[in-house]
Amino acid sequence: MSENDTASSEPTRRDFLYLTTAMTGAVGAAAVAWPFIDQLRPNATTLALSTIEVDVSGVEEGMSITVKWRGKAVFIRNRTAKEIEEATAVPLEDLKDQAARNANLAPDAPALDIDRSAGEDRENWIVMVGVCTHLGCVPLGQAGDYGGWFCPCHGSHYDTAGRIRSGPAPENLAIPPFEFVSDTMIKIG
Ligand code: FES
Repeated sequence: MSENDTASSEPTRRDFLYLTTAMTGAVGAAAVAWPFIDQLRPNATTLALSTIEVDVSGVEEGMSITVKWRGKAVFIRNRTAKEIEEATAVPLEDLKDQAARNANLAPDAPALDIDRSAGEDRENWIVMVGVCTHLGCVPLGQAGDYGGWFCPCHGSHYDTAGRIRSGPAPENLAIPPFEFVSDTMIKIG
């Protein structure tokens, strides 16, 4: 290899300055692009309107339906007395995730059955985002070792309160903001 070859293959101080400038330029471009991208996001008003109302008058005890909310599946299940009983009987210490993961409650609310459900007098109703907390598959209802939901992707079993009981999923299924706006109508979002 000649001396000239060596010189041309090593970055010179000029090249280094050029590269540094080019990188700074790229960061500058990203910083300018950000406000434009930010403007394309839905604003708070649009997000607030992203609610759905679901008539559950036809969902009898033991039945469930899946609706779509903000692009995600949401499970609504009218649990049987037996299913509620089974979920209520589980001691909190036996749960892998002891947090309620209920957007309607404080972040530190425990994963008791009542706190996973629609609450007092409506403990039979459970409303959850149908996205497995492992890697995001949609679990199957009325399935698995605990009679709740089963995610076939990697074998996560959720109980009848949607709490993770076995398998790789780390958290209970998330409960979205929702409320009963009448005896038979649920507003989600
Ligand atoms: S995505 Fe559900 S178990 Fe892996």
